[in-house]
Amino acid sequence: MTIPDIKKAVSILQRGGLVALPTETVYGLGADAANSAAVQRIFLAKGRPQDHPLIVHLADISQLSKWARDIPPVAQQLAKAFWPGPMTLILKKQPDVLDVVTANQDTVGIRIPSHPVAREVLTAFGGGVAAPSANKFTHVSPTTASAVQEELGDEVDLILDGGMCEVGLESTIIDVTGEHPVILRPGMITVAEIEEVLKQPVASAVIETVTKVPGMHHLHYAPTTKTSLIEHFDIPVLLHTITEKDLPVVLMVRSEPLIPVTDQVFWVQMPAGAKEYAHELYRTLRSLDNQHYQRIIIENVPNEVEWLAIRDRLKKATGSKAC
Ligand code: TXA
Ligand code: MG
Repeated sequence: MTIPDIKKAVSILQRGGLVALPTETVYGLGADAANSAAVQRIFLAKGRPQDHPLIVHLADISQLSKWARDIPPVAQQLAKAFWPGPMTLILKKQPDVLDVVTANQDTVGIRIPSHPVAREVLTAFGGGVAAPSANKFTHVSPTTASAVQEELGDEVDLILDGGMCEVGLESTIIDVTGEHPVILRPGMITVAEIEEVLKQPVASAVIETVTKVPGMHHLHYAPTTKTSLIEHFDIPVLLHTITEKDLPVVLMVRSEPLIPVTDQVFWVQMPAGAKEYAHELYRTLRSLDNQHYQRIIIENVPNEVEWLAIRDRLKKATGSKAC
């Protein structure tokens, strides 16, 4: 990234414009978090309902008290362990944080990203940057600059290309406003890693009982092609039940495919490790969605702690109600 690119990004933010910027998780659609007209543009560009609050991105922990108050010791511990990085903390907000950012709640989501380009922009800008993932509402989050171009090319003033996002899934969101910390959205920082830092068990929100849980919409992170999730041993049966109108079909598998490869049945091999799988997931979904398959079928991933965020996103991408 050149210095003129960073300068241009900062001047667009200062003028109330929209800048798509790379973070280590996914690309964000950034606006000055202290400018309500600029933040409104984010909602318009994404087609996102106003009751979904935005994460405020900061360059440095020293800025935290400008945005959040009553910062509890657990927040300090988590910040020390995981920032800069793929974690968002939900904290009590300072009174002047805009309602359009927090969706009128008394809390604010804060993240200090580690991607060097995001850090350069945030440092040079000096303020908070409100940034949701840079995709249309309910679509798959972008992990490359070209995916942002495809999603929001006409609506954004500048796209900074910082290469492919390293993590590939959105940040782990932890609510630290209550008596005990609660994970609202799983991410690649796992519950086990969080518990190790806090030396206490940490709960995950039960989606049905919490009102403001991220990604609660029935279909989120979803391709437009009909996409389903299936357990490994059900693949052969499913292939038998497939009819003409489902073809061509593509399977995303981690195991050796038990699949008769014909000119109408395709498969893509996904990585065996969770980190590598997360890195590839959205790029693969987006690429398959852009081809002419009638159906995408995804083999489910292990029910193990390092896979939980991926299972969550697969469930949402397929509108599946099962765990
Ligand atoms: O990795 C990420 O978190 C990326 C990058 C760009 O930082 N951002 C991202 O933003 O995924 P978005 O808007 O697509 O998802 C953020 C989620 C939303 O679903 C929202 O409901 C939740 O964070 N959120 C934000 N502020 C909140 C708050 N005060 N209370 C509860 N949830 C909040
Ligand atoms: Mg999003």
